[in-house]
Amino acid sequence: MLDLKKIISHSKEYGFIFPSSEIYDGLSAIYDYGPFGVELKNNIKNYWWKSMVQENENIVGLDSSIFMHPRIWKASGHVDAFSDPLVDNKDSKKRYRADTLIEDHVIKIQKKIDKEILKGEKRFGDDFNNEKFQQTNTKIIKYNKEIKAIKQKLNSSLQQDNLIGLSELIDQLDIKCPISGTNNWTDVRKFNLMFDTQLGAISDVASKLYLRPETAQGIFVNFLNVQKSARKKIPFGIAQIGKAFRNEIVARQFIFRMREFEQMEMQFFVKPGDEIKWYSFWKQQRMEWHKKLNLQLGEYQFHDHQNLAHYANAACDIEFNFPIGFKELEGIHSRTNYDLSQHQIFSKKKLSYYDTEIQESYLPYVVETSVGLDRLFLSILCGSLVEEPVNNEKRIVLKIPPFLSPISVAVLPLIKKDGLSNKARSIFNYLRSKFRCQFEDKDSIGKRYRRQDAIGTPICLTIDHDTISDDMVTLRNRDTMLQERVAIKNLPKIIRGKLDI
Ligand code: GAP
Repeated sequence: MLDLKKIISHSKEYGFIFPSSEIYDGLSAIYDYGPFGVELKNNIKNYWWKSMVQENENIVGLDSSIFMHPRIWKASGHVDAFSDPLVDNKDSKKRYRADTLIEDHVIKIQKKIDKEILKGEKRFGDDFNNEKFQQTNTKIIKYNKEIKAIKQKLNSSLQQDNLIGLSELIDQLDIKCPISGTNNWTDVRKFNLMFDTQLGAISDVASKLYLRPETAQGIFVNFLNVQKSARKKIPFGIAQIGKAFRNEIVARQFIFRMREFEQMEMQFFVKPGDEIKWYSFWKQQRMEWHKKLNLQLGEYQFHDHQNLAHYANAACDIEFNFPIGFKELEGIHSRTNYDLSQHQIFSKKKLSYYDTEIQESYLPYVVETSVGLDRLFLSILCGSLVEEPVNNEKRIVLKIPPFLSPISVAVLPLIKKDGLSNKARSIFNYLRSKFRCQFEDKDSIGKRYRRQDAIGTPICLTIDHDTISDDMVTLRNRDTMLQERVAIKNLPKIIRGKLDI
């Protein structure tokens, strides 16, 4: 897999992603999608929507607003508890997430272990037994013990909201600021991740609004509206795609962690007691969905949560192997009836559902699937962008699933002259209403092929002198670079076949 730097520069050069407000030196962790980025993003959205809403009879859509009544965030727990532990270095004035500082320290110890293993491999050659080596090497044993103790203290401090415990751990490990190199830290304190703003002209507490940090709450507060208007019976789901905002303390790693991002969430409402069955169902379904993308370099794993949030009775992440290692791509959570019951208490409105089958009213339990659209976009880029040798040169090619490609078909006259451009234009006009097409007649055909490879166009059609007489074009395959001669009249059928999901 290419490293993140390469992915970032490719994204900018080929019009996928630009740093926001770049001519004003950018805005940290905010990005804009360029001409090919927006196409790819829309295609990913449509694919998710199609597989969640259109292909599931018992899931319907919603588009709720970003601004909601501020009491919603009190009820959901976001006002009091949606925070990260933050710490400042007094010398560099840099702000860090305390848990991330500690995790980075653990990574450093892990690197020492990897170094010892490398030494062992060199020393023992073919006789090297990794497992035995790790069990007997005194240094590795010591490092592993250290890691275990740090993780235990970190997890228990996080779970108990023990900020003093985190401060002690930073002191005890003598963690230094990467910028100033000093350990001159403030106390660890809580930092709420929600952005706020004012409603109307009068600035008082009552008019304070939050930019939603997740789309899920818009679904919960509309639960009965949707259930009644769509005449749905439990079990059923509500899906939504939309922007979310979080004032992340550590906002690096490109579009992996942004302050303004998009989520694709689905809340599945079930009968109490059925939630673990549905949790397992959606856990498998979502993993299969990701794997079906069939990325060139797509590696996924589950990470089952050991420390559950107080309202959850099961939770896991689907992790993708990004260039920065395995990281969360999607979360699947069994959220019990916590959200609905909180909204029932805070709004004083009944949100229970009458189940005609058992003739009983209850507050449904909820299984949530929540994937970040931008993170999914990044996983698809990282898993598809490859550099490969061609005739003593390198070509960079985005081997993206063809149905997601920003451009499906590039129409390329071999040269501009001899009527080839006009012929190519007529083919382009014939195809453009059916597929996402691009017409290009500048530069040599080789350069144009490379440019289309770089943006992931699966099909290039070349119009040459023979086309004028035989009404056939050369169809070039992005991945194999093989070329075949096909009749213009057969193009729609052939292209459709190649773009089929
Ligand atoms: N409603 C549940 C929820 O919001 P989450 O684990 O906080 O759960 C769900 O977020 C998904 O949203 C994550 O798995 C990730 O893909 C995406 N996400 C969260 N924070 C993000 C950020 N700052 N930038 C980009 N994507 C983010």
